[in-house]
Amino acid sequence: MKMLQCCAAVALVAVVTMAVGCAPKRVEPVRTAVIPDGTIDPAQWGKVYPVEYELWKKTGEATPAGKSRYKTGNDEGQERPDKLDEFPFLALLFNGWAFGSEYNEPRGHLHMLQDQLDVDPGRYKAGGSCLTCKTPYAPILQGKMGKDYFSKPYKEVLAHVPQEHQTLGVACIDCHNNNDMSLRISRGFTLGKALDTLGVDQSKLTQQDMRTLVCAQCHVTYSIPKDANMKSTDVFFPWQGSKWGGITIENIIKKLRSNAPSGEWTQSVTGFKLAFIRHPEFELFSNNSVHWQAGVSCSDCHMPYTKVGSRKVSDHRIMSPLKNGLKACQQCHTESPEWLRNQIFAIQDRTMSQFIRSGYATATVAKLFEMANTAQANGKQIDKALYAQARDHYEEAFYRVIFIGAENSTGFHNPSEALRILGDAARHAGKAEGLLRQALTKAGVTVPVKIDLELSKYVNNRGTKKLMFKPQNEIKDPFAGK
Ligand code: HEC
Ligand code: HEC
Ligand code: HEC
Ligand code: HEC
Repeated sequence: MKMLQCCAAVALVAVVTMAVGCAPKRVEPVRTAVIPDGTIDPAQWGKVYPVEYELWKKTGEATPAGKSRYKTGNDEGQERPDKLDEFPFLALLFNGWAFGSEYNEPRGHLHMLQDQLDVDPGRYKAGGSCLTCKTPYAPILQGKMGKDYFSKPYKEVLAHVPQEHQTLGVACIDCHNNNDMSLRISRGFTLGKALDTLGVDQSKLTQQDMRTLVCAQCHVTYSIPKDANMKSTDVFFPWQGSKWGGITIENIIKKLRSNAPSGEWTQSVTGFKLAFIRHPEFELFSNNSVHWQAGVSCSDCHMPYTKVGSRKVSDHRIMSPLKNGLKACQQCHTESPEWLRNQIFAIQDRTMSQFIRSGYATATVAKLFEMANTAQANGKQIDKALYAQARDHYEEAFYRVIFIGAENSTGFHNPSEALRILGDAARHAGKAEGLLRQALTKAGVTVPVKIDLELSKYVNNRGTKKLMFKPQNEIKDPFAGK
């Protein structure tokens, strides 16, 4: 690797204001007026900071097509891809609840609440809890409504948001203090509590930490615990047992599985009650990745400094760095955009290959469980110990596969960790398959060498919204047949 530009610059410049690593010098906001306390409307903030406001609004525009290999959810002229079309094994694994009928790729921030309203309503059955990462009113509503905020029906909680803001997504107040524009954690009731779980002293967080943590308010996985009546009681991050810079998949799975008796949903193929994993960008990135170690933040790559007229600002049009000519990377790297792009694609292709292989291996195990359950129901004796061991390995594989499947960088945020997780997933799936084949054979059931996954059944039959599988959208293993 060539010498990093900014490190050289730092050595020359005597006054260094930034805290960690190679981050370029930050921009000091120019304040021209006061934003009254409690102002949520971004247009009001925009009167004081028009440049950031205009860039923020652009997250509602389509992103340039043909730049990203795997994240095209927001691209010009592209129909919004659904992960269940792209990865048919997910349609099998998620069959049994709303994620098995529709699971769209993400797009720009301005759309977040509208996209939730447009999705299969089963996806927000958990109630007000689902608004936590979607509306800037979430902290206010939670404070006012207490437990009711989590448990009451989604639409009922949303009705407490002023009408004109019922489709407003992430706003300035989610990340900034109105008086001095410093960064803030607005979601003390989720991220704040989770940082306590990690033993982090919030008074000691650096500016660079904050440039990551504002994003970690939402780009993390979470769980929704339920009471005896299956009503939501809270939203929490499964970080118990982990530490800052090391939230591991092992600890996440341990926590999810210890909650499993009150699981969030029932997988129809196996009949198992399971938990779920969502967009764990912060967890994967902060688990000792090369960039985390180098003190790089989410904002360094997704909000690079940019010139607007004569002003240097943080690019509030948050999106994939690939769609921005890799400008973000060039703040630190002297390599050409072609080199950087090839690095990203190489990492993503390897991750994708392992994701697809371990995903199909896990789906195969799910079908073997279906076979074992049917045999048991038909009076055959399935060995309980083998079945329990197989289930153990199966769940370990399942959560690892969906962790990487839900993480939105296709491995880039932490390449070696992503491959480690998927390698373990494939091994657990292989173990489970062996144990189940043994149990089935012992019970006198003949198991075919190749298991029919009946994918068309899961992909084509998922409710009113998505009726037809579009095979042209399927992402193939980039190394298949090589
Ligand atoms: C209040 C919650 C919230 C916060 C805070 C937040 N995000 Fe997001 N982000 C989302 C949601 C929800 C989506 C998906 C929106 C959709 O698909 O409608 C998203 C989408 C994205 C995308 C995809 C954009 C595209 O063009 O497809 C990127 C990149 C992103 N966020 C990065 C960040 C970064 C970096 C930060 C911190 C500086 C951040 N986000 C802070 C909730 C949040
Ligand atoms: C070293 C640079 C870097 C850092 C640091 C980084 N990202 Fe990314 N991120 C990327 C790249 C590269 C991609 C892949 C984009 C693509 O495939 O189009 C990506 C993808 C994403 C996506 C999906 C984008 C899309 O268009 O759908 C989200 C969301 C995201 N990152 C959020 C985050 C969050 C949150 C953090 C901090 C916890 C973070 N990133 C840290 C470089 C970075
Ligand atoms: C998802 C989080 C997020 C949202 C939403 C957000 N910002 Fe920022 N903003 C940041 C980050 C991160 C920085 C860089 C701060 C730093 O390093 O000190 C920043 C910096 C700024 C600055 C300092 C100058 C600059 O450009 O670096 C201003 C002014 C600003 N934002 C205004 C706004 C306004 C106005 C809105 C709403 C229209 C907004 N921001 C929405 C995260 C956000
Ligand atoms: C704020 C500075 C900064 C930014 C922004 C940044 N990087 Fe890096 N990057 C680093 C540092 C520091 C290292 C570690 C260098 C080393 O140890 O040799 C690194 C390492 C890497 C490596 C080698 C990783 C490995 O696993 O060995 C790649 C590839 C890379 N960066 C690509 C990118 C891409 C692509 C982007 C933009 C999406 C980007 N970087 C943005 C600072 C940065």
